[in-house]
Amino acid sequence: MPELDQPLNLSASSPAPFSTSASILVIDDEAGIRESLEVLLTLEGYAVTMANDGEQGLHILDLENFDLVLLDLALPGQSGLELLPQIKERHPETPVIMITAYGTVDNVVEAIRAGAENFVQKPWDNEKLMADIRSAVARHRAEEENLQLKRTLKQRYNFTNIVGKSDVMLRVFDLVAQVAPSRSTVLIQGESGTGKELIAKAIHANSPRRDKPFVPINTGAMPSELLESTLFGHVKGAFTSAVASKKGLFEVANGGTLFMDEIATMGMDTQAKILRVLQDRRFMHLGGIQEIQVDVRIIAATNIDLRQAVRDGRFREDLFYRLNVITVDLPPLRARREDIPLLTQHFLDFYANENGLAPRKLSADAMRALIDYDWPGNVRELENSIERGVVLSSGPVIGSDLLPGHITGRSFQDALLEHNPNASLFDILEDIERRIIVEKLERCNWNQTDAAEQFRIPLSTLNQKIKRMNIEIRKRNRE
Ligand SMILES: Nc1ncnc2c1ncn2[C@@H]1O[C@H](COP(=O)(O)OP(=O)(O)OP(=O)(O)O)[C@@H](O)[C@H]1O
Ligand SMILES: [Mg+2]
Repeated sequence: MPELDQPLNLSASSPAPFSTSASILVIDDEAGIRESLEVLLTLEGYAVTMANDGEQGLHILDLENFDLVLLDLALPGQSGLELLPQIKERHPETPVIMITAYGTVDNVVEAIRAGAENFVQKPWDNEKLMADIRSAVARHRAEEENLQLKRTLKQRYNFTNIVGKSDVMLRVFDLVAQVAPSRSTVLIQGESGTGKELIAKAIHANSPRRDKPFVPINTGAMPSELLESTLFGHVKGAFTSAVASKKGLFEVANGGTLFMDEIATMGMDTQAKILRVLQDRRFMHLGGIQEIQVDVRIIAATNIDLRQAVRDGRFREDLFYRLNVITVDLPPLRARREDIPLLTQHFLDFYANENGLAPRKLSADAMRALIDYDWPGNVRELENSIERGVVLSSGPVIGSDLLPGHITGRSFQDALLEHNPNASLFDILEDIERRIIVEKLERCNWNQTDAAEQFRIPLSTLNQKIKRMNIEIRKRNRE
């Protein structure tokens, strides 16, 4: 194994977990309700604080951080409904559960729209109340933890936009930090969508080469000749269409990093040529006679088992050993489910922000569905599901009805009817139309002309619908 230039001190472990018990503020004017909640919550291990009106509640909230607020809807003076936006404005991260009497459905809907997490009806069922509280607190803590983790990762590693707290991912982060400073070749293995390219970029960004180019190339997607001329460049007249000489990516990446994606499907001839460059960092333009020396770091990625490809005779053994100096194995998402809430929060923030929307969160049952699902498409599939949920959502809470049916195990009809229990047929049909339009746009990479053409409607009609339905048009440049 080549020497590492300057291994980092990796003694620090994951960020400190929250050790204090969760804290809850109850705002209710009825002494009886306050007392029974105090007993109940204290028995469950929560630290409870009481306020008997809105003003006092707001004051306490400004002094202390709470994991949750239980807010009575029918407070005297300033009602819970009037108080809620003030709490949300000053403490947007703190979840609020409304306490309501029977027969106030309209108010509840309004409260959820204004950002309440959930509601309980008096007289409540203790077990259900506790389950709701537990999930709201857990979610709040995951959000806080996410923020803290991002800060830590950024400070320790200069990682941006990478999330993970599972042991396996923390080990990956340590390895990345350790190998980044050297010039060693790195092989990243993992199923599709596990974050191979993201990790390759992190290695580059944490290396002394960070100011030089990071050049990705999908080696699996090109026929051999094209791939070779792309990598090595060519001189004028090297082949029929070579009307001018052209630099190859090995030169473009000089001083920086060349990321060779899907390396396993590269042709055998090309493999031999790559091997030569890896050995002495020298190559020739196609049709050229002069050797060119470059200083390029290679990071390769594969989503199939390269060792097996060697056994099958599809991949050169000598090249495999050259590439396999340091291997980063990215586990599939289903093997690190504890990362799902963090990733979800990360994508909720990202897409709400990108679409200019207020913060979004997931309902408890939607989150449960995400944690239980097996994610064959890994993080990318999760990211796409969240993005769709954010685009389709019309309020702050994304329910499981806005997740794809194969994830929640529910049919499209179920989802629609649950989403609109009291809606008119007209409203439900409009909901269907909106979802279908968003789905089509997504499939057309948000190209409205393509979508209109495939729907066989004029572009202007599609535009009108998009405007009327308030569909946010996504910009596709994520980098
Ligand atoms: N740990 C993570 N934190 C945040 N975002 C992630 C993480 N892992 C993956 N992603 C995101 O998921 C998407 C897929 O990641 P990426 O393209 O790196 O995967 P990949 O393994 O290269 O996939 P493929 O094999 O399909 O090319 C990207 O948008 C990436 O930003
Ligand atoms: Mg990739």
